[in-house]
Amino acid sequence: MLHLTAPTADEWIGQALSDHESLLLDHAHCEKKAASTAINLIFRYTQHLELMAPLSALAREELSHFELMLGVLEERRIPFRRLEPSNYAPRLLAAARKKEPHRLLDTLLCCALIEARSCERIQLLGVAFESIEPDLSRLYHSLFKSEARHHGTYVDLAIQLFDKEKVRVRLQELSLHEASILGRDEPALRFHS
Ligand SMILES: [Fe+2]
Ligand SMILES: [Fe+2]
Repeated sequence: MLHLTAPTADEWIGQALSDHESLLLDHAHCEKKAASTAINLIFRYTQHLELMAPLSALAREELSHFELMLGVLEERRIPFRRLEPSNYAPRLLAAARKKEPHRLLDTLLCCALIEARSCERIQLLGVAFESIEPDLSRLYHSLFKSEARHHGTYVDLAIQLFDKEKVRVRLQELSLHEASILGRDEPALRFHS
């Protein structure tokens, strides 16, 4: 359903459970970044009316998740601060072709894969936190559906604008690339490390 080629390694879950602070802080930054990416696409591709309302709704939902995560940080007395981002998104997006319309297709599919990886990890965290941090478990279970929907939104938008078979083939290629960069040379725990 999520078009991911490789599952998250058990080591990542182990690291996440042992470093809540980095996990929650980076998660907050990821929600902010997801909103900003959707808004950037609205500005860059104003000629594609099909993208406007779905991406605006997605950006609003990501900002509501950002506010939710700010609340979680505050409750746990973790000051929101800058954090060196992981190399994951730039490495994934490096595979996007530079010329239009390929650039738009590849960007939509990279966004779909980022949402898919977030969704997969959110589900894993919801389960992993059940016995040790029930509040965090509930938080992650509550986020699962919307992140799965965001993945679907990006794939659906790609199918609306491009040939369905081309979307399928390119999504498979980019998914293999996503699996190959996951966890590579990451200095610290991040949501997508
Ligand atoms: Fe989100
Ligand atoms: Fe999302």
